[in-house]
Amino acid sequence: MKDHLIIFDTTLRDGEQSPGASMTNEEKMRIAKQLERLKVDVIEAGFPASSNGDFAAVKAIAAAIKDSTVCGLARANEQDVRRAGEALKPAKSGRVHTFIASSPIHMKMKLRMTPEQVLDQAVKAVRWAREYTDNVEFSPEDAGRSEVDFLCRLLEATIAAGANTINIPDTVGYTLPWQFGDLIKNLRERIPNADKAVWSVHCHNDLGMAVANSLASVMNGARQVECTINGLGERAGNASLEEVVMAVKTRKDVFPCTTRIDTTQIVAASKLVSGITGFPVQPNKAIVGANAFSHESGIHQDGVLKHRETYEIMRAEDVGWNANKLVLGKLSGRNAFKNRLGELGIDLGSEDAVNHAFARFKELADKKGEVFDEDLHALVSDEQITPEREHYKLIALKIVSETGEVPSAMVTLGTGDSEHSVQTRGDGPIDAMFRAIELMVHSKARMLLYSVNAITTGTDAQGEVTVRLEREGRIVNGLGSDTDILVASAKAYINALNKLHSKQQRLNPQLAA
Ligand code: KIV
Ligand code: ZN
Repeated sequence: MKDHLIIFDTTLRDGEQSPGASMTNEEKMRIAKQLERLKVDVIEAGFPASSNGDFAAVKAIAAAIKDSTVCGLARANEQDVRRAGEALKPAKSGRVHTFIASSPIHMKMKLRMTPEQVLDQAVKAVRWAREYTDNVEFSPEDAGRSEVDFLCRLLEATIAAGANTINIPDTVGYTLPWQFGDLIKNLRERIPNADKAVWSVHCHNDLGMAVANSLASVMNGARQVECTINGLGERAGNASLEEVVMAVKTRKDVFPCTTRIDTTQIVAASKLVSGITGFPVQPNKAIVGANAFSHESGIHQDGVLKHRETYEIMRAEDVGWNANKLVLGKLSGRNAFKNRLGELGIDLGSEDAVNHAFARFKELADKKGEVFDEDLHALVSDEQITPEREHYKLIALKIVSETGEVPSAMVTLGTGDSEHSVQTRGDGPIDAMFRAIELMVHSKARMLLYSVNAITTGTDAQGEVTVRLEREGRIVNGLGSDTDILVASAKAYINALNKLHSKQQRLNPQLAA
């Protein structure tokens, strides 16, 4: 019998810490439901002390998810831990994850605490967490650069205080696979009560080693890997869930453990996270990149046709490619539409909202005939823009673009009860349109990214546009989709402006000491 490898997904917490990857609470819920379908063991749903919004998101996910443990992050202070404990109360299975930095540089420069103070605070935090649940995880942040003797003392004390998962983060992605594997082995051998906890790892990808470091740790006794869909996460990201899971599955001849992940849900999860965050997946990304299973060269194609295993070590269908994605068409009725939303874990909240979304679905089906799951996700993202999140609203758009002429755009924007129109010219139609909008809004935001992707294949596909804006250090992503990419672009830009306009601020748990 092989051991069970616990898959702990932190897309909704560490993933959301990537600049610009912030998600609304409805979007988080949709991702959480897809993670449950994927059968991840633990979903880290957020950092409840960050804001009332984050607290509400973790609480709602805790109430809705039944087949995965729901976890909330807390810095090692009483207020954070109690906030996490409260948010997790509705969970069928809840876990509090508390952390404090343990490397000399973090303790001295960030926390301004001595090692003894850190140890004392960590033990207290674990005890507070145990008042809420017997499922408590402790992480010594920046363990990869911490002194091993101090880690041994700290971890022995936190296990004795009641932590039953000990997570070793390589916070800055500094270690190399053989070093990190040795660290896990060493800690497990040297700490007298090591067998009272599950050993976990949390690796960042700054040197491109996150997956390799995680797998090296598994070979040295780690039985939980923390990871994210598409490798999303702070800076260069976290270990990618799909790569860890498929490595363990494909090389079962090597690994002493298995996961319970339903791998056929991987591609759907990847597309959902990419669509919601606006972080595209590179075509050559392992497992979930568009080219991961395509064979362009004649020699490869010939080999694959003769015998698939000549060039393929995994089957595309095992990770959810080629799944039958055609879901609805022009003739589909309201019931079929509502059922499919249910299967995708989308709850619009009221019959009125379903009716409204169904009317928009019909318009879309008339335009493009076939409506895919990805189209439904995009449609629902638009549906969930509530009036308080829609300070600016696109009313009308007219673009003139002709060879030999300077393009111009006329945009009408609604703000509250009033409407304004501006016409202006630009280098191209998009430039003209964005200038016209900025002339009305005066956001003074800097555009960091403008990207267009086809949601599905074919020239009738909806275009999905991402606009990333920055103002005074705050970064937001706006998304827009439409069969007309100019309209999609306007929606994305306005969506980003609305996010900048909203006051909701999030706190980064690791930067805020
Ligand atoms: O990278 C890190 O150290 C973290 C901790 C909060 C676990 O994300
Ligand atoms: Zn992290």
